[in-house]
Formats: sequence, structure tokens, C-alpha cells
Amino acid sequence: MADIKRILAGMTVREKIGQLTQYNANLFVDTDAALTGGNASMGLSDEDLSKVGSVLNFKTPCEMRKIQEKHLRRDRNKIPMLFMMDVIHGFRTMYPIPLALGCSFDTDIVEKCSRMAAREAVAGGVQVTFTPMVDYIRDARWGRVMESAGEDALLNGIMGAAQVKAFQGEDLSAPDNIAACVKHFAGYGGVEAGREYNAVELSEHIMREHYLPAYKKCLDAGAEMIMPAFNTLSGVPSICNSRLMKTILKDEWDFNGIVISDYGAVLDIIRLGVAEDEKEAARLAFENGCDIEMCSPTYFHHLEELIDEGVFDAKRLDEAVLRILDLKNRLGLFEDPYRGASETEEPEIYLSAAHRDIARNAAEECAVLLKNDNILPFSCNVKKIALIGPFADNHKIIGVWSCNGKDEESVTIKQGIERLVPNAEIILEQGCGDEWDDADKSGFDSAVKAAAEADIVILCLGEPQDYSGEGNTRADISLHKIQCELAEAVSSANPNTAAVTFSGRPIVLTSLAKNVPAILHMWFPGTEGGAAAANLLFGKANPCGKLSVSFPELTGQCPIYYNHLPILRDREKGAHHPFCSNYIECESVPLYSFGHGLSYSNFIYEDLTLSKDEITAEETIDVEITVYNDSNTVGKETVMLYMRDVAASNARPVQQLIAFEKVPFGAHERKTIKFKVTEQMLRFWNNDNKFISEPGEFRLSTGYADHLILTKKFILK
Ligand code: BGC
Repeated sequence: MADIKRILAGMTVREKIGQLTQYNANLFVDTDAALTGGNASMGLSDEDLSKVGSVLNFKTPCEMRKIQEKHLRRDRNKIPMLFMMDVIHGFRTMYPIPLALGCSFDTDIVEKCSRMAAREAVAGGVQVTFTPMVDYIRDARWGRVMESAGEDALLNGIMGAAQVKAFQGEDLSAPDNIAACVKHFAGYGGVEAGREYNAVELSEHIMREHYLPAYKKCLDAGAEMIMPAFNTLSGVPSICNSRLMKTILKDEWDFNGIVISDYGAVLDIIRLGVAEDEKEAARLAFENGCDIEMCSPTYFHHLEELIDEGVFDAKRLDEAVLRILDLKNRLGLFEDPYRGASETEEPEIYLSAAHRDIARNAAEECAVLLKNDNILPFSCNVKKIALIGPFADNHKIIGVWSCNGKDEESVTIKQGIERLVPNAEIILEQGCGDEWDDADKSGFDSAVKAAAEADIVILCLGEPQDYSGEGNTRADISLHKIQCELAEAVSSANPNTAAVTFSGRPIVLTSLAKNVPAILHMWFPGTEGGAAAANLLFGKANPCGKLSVSFPELTGQCPIYYNHLPILRDREKGAHHPFCSNYIECESVPLYSFGHGLSYSNFIYEDLTLSKDEITAEETIDVEITVYNDSNTVGKETVMLYMRDVAASNARPVQQLIAFEKVPFGAHERKTIKFKVTEQMLRFWNNDNKFISEPGEFRLSTGYADHLILTKKFILK
């Protein structure tokens, strides 16, 4: 290990500021890596660039090596640069988008996928990933819902923490571990109207109960870094929001790791009208704990001056630099600044059979069977298949934020089916395009003809993958009109039609659900998506994903989520009533709610028992839920436990997931799943700004969101 205190002692102020700065690789080497933001001219000298401490957005290990070599030649302190990247759902072998992973309710899958990504990323020269994104979400219009685990704080935190542990491992110096940076702190998922980069206004209890817990869980799991969000929170940009960055992050949570700004976010303080100029922006960011400035030069331009003027103590600068040197040290960069970045290893790692297996298995576990009127699974003995729709033979299903993943390396639905049922004849018809304003129906006739001639129809529909991710807000999240019309035409020609749908967010499937007997939602499933879909459609795999986010009936229902407060005069499903909480055009519940997901097995929830019906705050309740697989089909069921606090000093959610377990079942197997309920699980954030529980009646149920069953009561004394 290097003696970083000694190194620090020999550094000039400007060299120290360099450590606090991160720029795109293209300032150091020619690269065709995608930029995640603009690349404004930084007004920096070559001398300054030679001091920069970290890099993002590089493409190959070769580039990484070149940048590092050049840097080490120029830096008299020989401090290696740190290489960071957005490894969001895979590095080269892509696995399903994080929102899909949420639907797996399975931390083993998340861990396997993240370990694979870490291994590939190390070979690609990456040392830190800007993962996990644990922004809690409630509005599917926002493009970045694809990066979150969904609309439940417990699930979001569990999935985030699993990623942190898997990426970082037990020991950061081990050759296939990389550091994790949790983002975007805090509340970015609450952007108004789902509009990217918009303001966020959240009440304290919503923030504390739903938005903050996942970040905390990731930090408790050991995340080395945190990234404040772009958005303002109560009018103050997150990066310089002292309540967030000092009171909560440092004072309450005692976080002592590295804070890195989001892309250009220090300059955004000016754009948001909270700083007059660069110098004030630099002051506000640094004062509130931002250690590394990503892709803007305000620290280089002004930090030295601010220290000279006595605004900051030189000690504060040293503390920030030490944090960064310490991470570099623990990653082993002083001993090996290239840390596993290797061209030669690539073929053995990237897209290896083992990695493709992990990706395929994950895609199978994440897919959600939304509807099945007894037509799936299809038989492998089928003779003629009409494969219709813009996603039938489309490689663009890996999902955005795909790092070094390549669309063309993915398995399409057509390829997946050809491999699985080689003897069947496949008639391929695109039918229509996938853009929202496509109106060309010239492909309809041949699609309908193909459907009429075939034994079964597989209809592959959805939104293009680049309609989700950063900057891709949608005002209308309905499956596009032309695709709904295609579905109607095709399914009238052949009722043996199953739809396979793709999206990076919940989409409105109301019309499709009226017209087709089965819908299998694949999200963006990654490199092995087509193979996974084929396995699921033909019963080689049994669907077991459950929605981690609600699918609205109409876009106007957004934001819509399962754990809402009681709604006055909420009406039953059905007709419109006067003076009720109605929508004129649709129901007030989602089309498919949180927790929904079918299986080819038939799971029967037989019993829910509580060990006690009264407890004190020190006692716990043992809950047992008995589930029977009343079928010959082996399968998995995510058993969920929901809680309702019947009356408290604050209105409490109508339901709240407090525990879950994904359980494998053999044919006709019965299992009893055990959970423990503690007083801590019953707490909420009250009006005096404390997490407390209050005595009274609580209800526990299983099932899911709008379909709670087997409810039992208990009293907290
Ligand atoms: C995104 C971050 C990402 C960063 C670096 C920003 O635009 O908001 O999530 O980590 O770019 O690529």
C-alpha cells in the first residue's frame, strides 16, 4: 500500500484540486465513447489536465491504458487516475434493465449479474461503477424509471444493497471487485410530471419513508461513493442542499466516503439560479461536501482562490483528497494502475457461454406474465408460427445504458424460437414500425394473412429502447396506436395469439389486453432476451416475475402506485359515481398492479397464521404463510407480506410490503414460508420528525397490492 499521507504532504494545491476533478476520456485520448452529457470547453491548460484525478466515458481497455500511461508519465506524484463508468445492467454481456431485475424479487440473480458485470468491467479497465441507482419511482413517464428497482422502498433498498455488495465484494483490492457509487441523492425519481431534470417537492414523511431508505441501505452495505441528484429539492439543488448533504448524509448517516457531482451539476447550480457565477457554484458545492466535480471546471478555476481568501481551510481540501487517494490505494492502483484492464482476456470473459447463461436466466426470472387465458405455454410440436411485429426480429432489446454492450450481439425473438423449435416453420412479418407516430399500415394485410395461416401467433410489440433512460420522458406511455391496431387485426385472424412486450417503463396495455389472450412482458431483457422469451413462451422456463411497478390503465393515472394513503370516497371498480374519487375515463386502480405476475404453476395460498395476536414493542410475531403448488409444473412464487396500520396520528398507506421471499416449488409441493414481524417494521415518520410506531391495531396480509388475501389482525400494546 502507498503512504498516501506522505504523497499528500508533497502535493501542491493545484495538484490536489486535480484529484477533485473528473473529465471525459476524450480530453485525453481519441475515443468514440458515448458522452453522457455535453462536452463544454473547459478552459483548462494542458498543465491542469495532467493533474486530473479521474476519468469517465472511455471505450476500451486500450484507451484506458493509454490515458493512464500518459498520465503517469506527466504526473510527478505518480498518482494513478481512477476510471469510472456507468455499468448499469452489464458491461458487455447485458442483463435485464434494473426495473426488470426488481421484478425478479431475487437478490441471488442480482448478485450473479453484478458479479459478472464487475468481472467484465475490470477487464475493460473500469474501477468504479456509477451504480446502483436507487431513486424511488412513482411516475412511469420519467425515462429513468428503467434504472430503478420500482415503487417499493424495501425492494429498492434490498436490490441496491445486493448490487453494492456484489460489485465491491468483501475486499476492494481483490482483482474482480470494483467500487460502487450510489445515486442520485436524493429524490430524483420525484421529478414533477415525470419530466427529466425537473424540480422535486416532497414532504418530509414521504421522503423519509419512501425515498431515502434505499440510499441509506446502500451506504450501510458499504458503498464507497455517492452522487447527488441533478434536481432541486425544496428549491435547492441537491448538490448544495445542506439539509441533504450535511444534515442527513454526514450528520445523521455519518457518511465518510466520496461524494461526486453528477455530470456538470456544479455548473447547473448557476443554471438553476442558485449561484451567480462559477466561483459561487464552486463554493456551494465544496461547502456542502462535493469531493469530485464531474465534467465542469469550477474547482480548477476557483478553489485555490477560495482557499487563499480563507473561505475554506486547506484542511478541508486535504480531507477530500485523502478520501480519493485512500480509495485508489484500497483498489490497489498504486501497485497496478491498470488493474486487470486487458485486451487478451476479453474473449474468455465477454459473452462467454457462462455469462450468456447468467443473462438468459436473469431475463427468464424478470419477465412478467401479465395475462394468460390458457394459451401459454405453446407446444414445441407446433408446425407453423406467425411471428409478427416490430420486435419480432429486432436486436434492439438490450436496453439503454448498455455500456459496451452491442445490440447486434443480442438474440432476437426469432433467433430464440428458431433454436428452440427448429422444426417449426416461421413466417416473419413486421406489420408496422415501432415509433410512436408510425401510421403506415401497408404491412397489415400480409401480417393478418400470416396469422390466419399459422397454428399460433407470437406478436412482438413495445416501445423502442431509446424511449427510456436519461432525458426520455414520455407524455403518453400507451402502447402505440398502430401496434394496438395491428394486435386487434392479427388476433381476430387467429385467436391463438400471445403478445410479447418490450419497454423500459410500465406502458399502457389496456387495448392490447382486451384483444389478446396472453401477454408476456420482457422489459428490455438484455443480450439473451430472445432466447429467454422463447423458453418462456414454449414452457422450457416458467414465468415467475412479479411487477415491481404498477402498469396504469391510462397515462393520466400517473403517478400511480400501490402504497398510497387512504383515498376519500375511493369507489369500487365499475361504474362512475357522483362525489367519489373517480376518473371519468378509467378505473382508479392500475391495469396491473405492483406484485402482479402469473405462472404456469397454480399457487394456492392456503393459510396465514400469527404466533401472537398482541405484542409489546420488544416482542416479535412469527408469521407463517402456507402455499401449495396445485399443478404438475415446477415453479417459483414470490410470497409477499403486507402490513396496514389501521389508525395512527398520520394517515398510513393502505398497504405496505414489509417482507418477501422468492420460493421454488416442486410439482404439487406445499411449503410454509416464515417471516418475523418486529416493532421496527411498524414505524413511520411522524409530524414531530421521528420514526415511531404507535400502539393499536395492525393487519397483515399476503397476496399482492390490489389483491390482498388471508388478512389477520394483531395489536401493538
Ligand atoms: C447521469 C448519471 C451518470 C453520469 C455519468 C449523468 O448524466 O445522470 O447517472 O452516472 O451522467 O455518466
